[in-house]
Amino acid sequence: MASATGIPDLNAVRGAGEDEPLLGRRGDAAQLEGEPIWKNLWLGTAPIAQAGIFILAAIIWGAILSHDLIFFSAHPLLNSAGLLLATQAALILQPTHTPAQKRTGTLLHALLHLFGLASLLAGLVVIEINKAGPGHEHFASPHAILGLTFYITIFLQAVVGFTQYYTPALYGGVDNAKAIYKYHRVSGYVIATLGLATVCASSWTTYSLNVGHIQHWAVIVASVLVLVGVVPRIKLSKFGLRRSGGEIRLST
Ligand code: HEM
Repeated sequence: MASATGIPDLNAVRGAGEDEPLLGRRGDAAQLEGEPIWKNLWLGTAPIAQAGIFILAAIIWGAILSHDLIFFSAHPLLNSAGLLLATQAALILQPTHTPAQKRTGTLLHALLHLFGLASLLAGLVVIEINKAGPGHEHFASPHAILGLTFYITIFLQAVVGFTQYYTPALYGGVDNAKAIYKYHRVSGYVIATLGLATVCASSWTTYSLNVGHIQHWAVIVASVLVLVGVVPRIKLSKFGLRRSGGEIRLST
């Protein structure tokens, strides 16, 4: 793309625009013009996040599938698959910055979350059926408390995310709806961390300690990798922030 002077605008060529990731240079995590959107899943530090989430899912699936499958087995299988899909939903949308990219990205983000949420909901139904009947304490262990908080917050997040974009009239118009996007983004990262913490805490459940033998360190390292891959791709501008003279300031 050329400027009025005829000199190519390097930021535009690299697809960076006004965007700047939390770590790295402008354009390190910005979708390039004309590039297919699926490449966003591998852009910048995304391979670290992908390694983390696929290792995490492999640890859980490996632990469950190496024992006799019982009704309960579906709970960890479905929940780890749901978290994997939610991670893809974040990774595909993060690098978008032009209106067209954001439109496609939002549609894919919503679809990936739809499948992820269906998987998580099925995981919740399985554990509730499994724990139905007398003698089972509900939401007592750290894993269960974190998990319940995660389920509630991710479902609320999905409702707000869907309505703010597809039915902005509910918020009094597009401008009002857009004003809450940044809170949806912040809470998204917090809820993702909560989901990872829930899986880590599952390694302390009696099932894991006695049967599955999920290694605490392995799930913690894999979860940290997910965050190390996702957090540097956060675009300051999408939070209403900008970098100025080495400092992070609110955009005016
Ligand atoms: C995002 C992932 C996960 C979420 C949101 C989640 C959520 C929950 C919740 C809310 C409960 C409590 C149900 C109740 O008390 O009525 C529970 C129980 C349980 N979960 Fe998960 N879970 C997840 C992943 C896993 C994984 C990967 C394992 C692997 C072993 C696991 C193992 C268990 C076990 C053994 C219980 C029963 C014991 C207890 O209540 O602490 N979960 N889960």
